[in-house]
Amino acid sequence: MSNETVRGDAFENLLREERQFAPSQEFAAVANVHEEIYAEANADRVAFWAEQARKHLTWSKDFTQTLDWSNPPFAKWFVGGEVNAAYNALDRHVEAGLGDRVAIHFEGEPGDTETITYADLTERVKRAANAFEALGVAKGDRVAVYLPMIPEAVVTMLACARIGAIHSVVFGGFSAEALRSRIDDAEAKLVVTADGTFRRGKPSPLKPAVDEALSESGHTVEHVVVVERNKQDVAWTEGRDLRWSEVMDSASPEHTAVGHDAEHPLYILYTSGTTGRPKGILHTTGGYLTQCAFTHSAVFDLKPETDVYWCTADIGWVTGHSYVTYGPLVNGATQVIYEGTPDSPHQGRWWEIVQKYKVSILYTAPTAIRTMMKWGSDIPAQYDLSSIRVLGSVGEPINPEAWMWYRGAIGGNTAPIVDTWWQTETGAIMVAPLPGVTATKPGSAQVPLPGIAVDVVDEAGNSVPNGHGGFLVVREPWPSMLRTIWGDPERFKDTYWSRFEGTYFAGDGAKKDDDGDIWLLGRVDDVMNVSGHRLSTTEIESALVSHPWVAEAAVVGAADETTGQAVVAFVILRGEADLPTGEDATDAIVQTLRTHVGHEIGPIAKPRHILVVPELPKTRSGKIMRRLLKDVAEGRDPGDATTLADPTVMQKIAEDLRN
Ligand code: WT7
Repeated sequence: MSNETVRGDAFENLLREERQFAPSQEFAAVANVHEEIYAEANADRVAFWAEQARKHLTWSKDFTQTLDWSNPPFAKWFVGGEVNAAYNALDRHVEAGLGDRVAIHFEGEPGDTETITYADLTERVKRAANAFEALGVAKGDRVAVYLPMIPEAVVTMLACARIGAIHSVVFGGFSAEALRSRIDDAEAKLVVTADGTFRRGKPSPLKPAVDEALSESGHTVEHVVVVERNKQDVAWTEGRDLRWSEVMDSASPEHTAVGHDAEHPLYILYTSGTTGRPKGILHTTGGYLTQCAFTHSAVFDLKPETDVYWCTADIGWVTGHSYVTYGPLVNGATQVIYEGTPDSPHQGRWWEIVQKYKVSILYTAPTAIRTMMKWGSDIPAQYDLSSIRVLGSVGEPINPEAWMWYRGAIGGNTAPIVDTWWQTETGAIMVAPLPGVTATKPGSAQVPLPGIAVDVVDEAGNSVPNGHGGFLVVREPWPSMLRTIWGDPERFKDTYWSRFEGTYFAGDGAKKDDDGDIWLLGRVDDVMNVSGHRLSTTEIESALVSHPWVAEAAVVGAADETTGQAVVAFVILRGEADLPTGEDATDAIVQTLRTHVGHEIGPIAKPRHILVVPELPKTRSGKIMRRLLKDVAEGRDPGDATTLADPTVMQKIAEDLRN
């Protein structure tokens, strides 16, 4: 973490926001939860979660202790309990006579569609469970998943969960290098991928990245199962590679789910931290599922019999885990899964989908909302969006302007907006309005959920009074909290539990307004948020300096109207490097370095701008002053540079950029 303090000044305006939108009486009257739920949870937080666990899940064996916090920060929830995630997401709905309910309306990018009922999905998952077991995947083994947004992604995750294998989903937009390091860190035995997907109507390959990731010996992968999605020819390694269709067709559709210990690992999901190496966030079964199911029901007011829910997140991110795969299916919801981009083949594609499936709950990210806002209100206005009754936002702070547009252009000025704050590490939503209870404020996530002890504290860890800012923390363990960093319990303690003794430090700045409502102000560490995706400045810096031309690099997230932040890199080139020459030399260098970052991490990490500079601003102890670079990147005068080892550096950079 850097020593930079919360820079709340830019957000002062936010706190002058005075608009409030109370739930309508009709909505409140039939809402899933009411005001009393806060008092109930406050009276006995642990008992509240025990009640949610028994209400939302079917346990194979009941738990005997709700929370074991005897060895903090290592929590155990629902001790002694046994539960199967796939059984809860599938079989029990079929057993309850809901087999014909649609689980997934799949909409492929090229326009192909598939309607998958709970009975269908259950059978597919049973086959996949048998198939993976036949390939030697046993309880506790790791399975890497590198798939597009297709039903097989959900099937694979649930099949792993069913047999107790730990899935590690790697976002399809990550590069072969990123995939390789994740496969190695988790020591995956199996990789499930696809030949490719479609992007803007054209086939876009995935399997070559898997081949590249596995090109060197020494990895632990025995098999690669390949979904034939775009039907393009792909290189084939006999003996290692297997076709999804063949493997599934020959597998039995019968499979009995057994309960796994509540603390049995469910998945690893890598996320960027403040250092170069991504962290494998580990989630376990009982607590995670409890909080996913509870929040999905309470925050979105899900009515599984009538709602059609659509979360636009990719399963490569935690939102896709908790609010595509686990929460909705455990709750028996009907949901839409869409493979493609919002503007293919036209900018109304999302609204066409909402109209077609009568989507009633939509959950998306501010960056998407701002993009649609830019495209213009007349586009959504061409579609019937009257089915929408709840709107969700996640991934970064939503600016009041985008919030108001979302409410008006998409929500018909009636649908409540729930701005949900949480993280890969928290596993499920932590701070959000409850749509039938809270009078919402544009731009604020507002209230910790019942049973969640979120606070805003000062440098010393003391709770700040209303009207003040500080750091967001969680004071008490919660069911879906990460249990550790895969293979690195010390890093788990250092990263989250050392800044404030005994308290979880989220890495976000926040303010409490005069009503005590929480406003998120963005990261206070070296983590960037680009289009709701988390990127580490250090990770991109490492990628840049791994190129032979680069001597040193500093990366900052500069404010961007659409994507929230944009990656801006400052690089010092090596004097002795064999650099391009001539008129377009700088362009050529910048292009090469951008491509290099794309190759090392993935296209999302490519810097928007790369500035070649003679020097970087550093403190006397050698720490790069990113704050000053951020000022430059955002077009501000960097101001006070006196703490720099060489106070003239900023001048040199500014001069250089003018030339
Ligand atoms: C970081 C976590 C949670 C799923 C998507 C991102 C930022 C997330 C909000 C929000 C303000 C938000 C925070 C957080 N963030 N939601 N509603 N308002 N900021 O998961 O990749 O783990 O990133 O995203 O900075 O720390 P993630």
